[in-house]
Amino acid sequence: MANARGPGLPNVMVLATGGTIAGSGASSTTVVGYTAATVGIETLLNAVPELKTVANVKGEQVFQIASENMNNDYWLKLAKRVNTLLAQDDVDGIVITHGTDTIEETSYFLNLVVKSKKPVVVVGAMRPSTAISADGPINLFNAVILAGSEEAVGKGVLVALNDQINAARDVTKNNTSTADTFRTPELGFLGYMQGNKPYFYRQSTRRHTADSEFDVSNLDVLPQVDIVYGYANMNRVAIDAFVAAGAKGIVHAGVGDGSLARPAVEPALDDARKKGVVILRSSRVGNGIVARNGEAKDDEHDFVVSDTLNPQKARILLMLALTKTTDTKDIQRMFFAY
Ligand code: SIN
Repeated sequence: MANARGPGLPNVMVLATGGTIAGSGASSTTVVGYTAATVGIETLLNAVPELKTVANVKGEQVFQIASENMNNDYWLKLAKRVNTLLAQDDVDGIVITHGTDTIEETSYFLNLVVKSKKPVVVVGAMRPSTAISADGPINLFNAVILAGSEEAVGKGVLVALNDQINAARDVTKNNTSTADTFRTPELGFLGYMQGNKPYFYRQSTRRHTADSEFDVSNLDVLPQVDIVYGYANMNRVAIDAFVAAGAKGIVHAGVGDGSLARPAVEPALDDARKKGVVILRSSRVGNGIVARNGEAKDDEHDFVVSDTLNPQKARILLMLALTKTTDTKDIQRMFFAY
């Protein structure tokens, strides 16, 4: 198989963080109502002896959580470990096993802060390890091949499940429970895993990894950024509460093209902005560009728009942006670049 570093099998490190891929159920037919994050890294690797034929694999348990419990501290810990390992000559690529619920957030965070062109592949499973037709083993096998491949070098952080390769920036969980839940709606996934090989057909045009300006190596905390969800009959309670709780940024997941309810919401966001909180207009729709100066006069209000990032990913970029600047013009530049 392809090897990023020369002859012989690539050296791939598998970092385990929990999730359903490491979950177990009461019986082989338990595919909902199981417990995530119960099985350790050695058991995960031993379940796929075929890994030895495609890479020299080592495993490490970084933490063990269901991914709804993911937080900024775990992200910083994971990113630092990834960067340390990728700086080593004896590591060609990294696989991260992860719960699917927040895989899109962790992978986009890493996409912005990993300082290497070496492949980083985030993988999960929709069925626990104890289930009939568990998808974890084949997903892990494909992820290790992808992380050791020359084709994945320089492509940014990848999310690979269900024989499909997605870009961290654009992938999203699309179904609560089916195995084909991961989609890159409208823009499309990058390629396939087939016959023990990756096949790429496109790649992200946005800055990432080695080309990113963000650096978390000296950070122990990230700025507080919260999301408020837009809906009919919305009020300002959540916005005011987040500001009172110390938010440095607020992502508004607006209806339609990131629209703001008037008179309830727009004045609350103006008040927050006057207190120094950066306001980011995103959309709850899930696809499309939020037009700057479209549904709100962003220049007048001094708001920023999310481009195509969904609210949960916009939150990540805004946190990282706020580690560098509070200048809204510069933050807007970042949202059109990453
Ligand atoms: C989780 O995200 O940890 C649970 C759900 C899953 O991995 O599919």
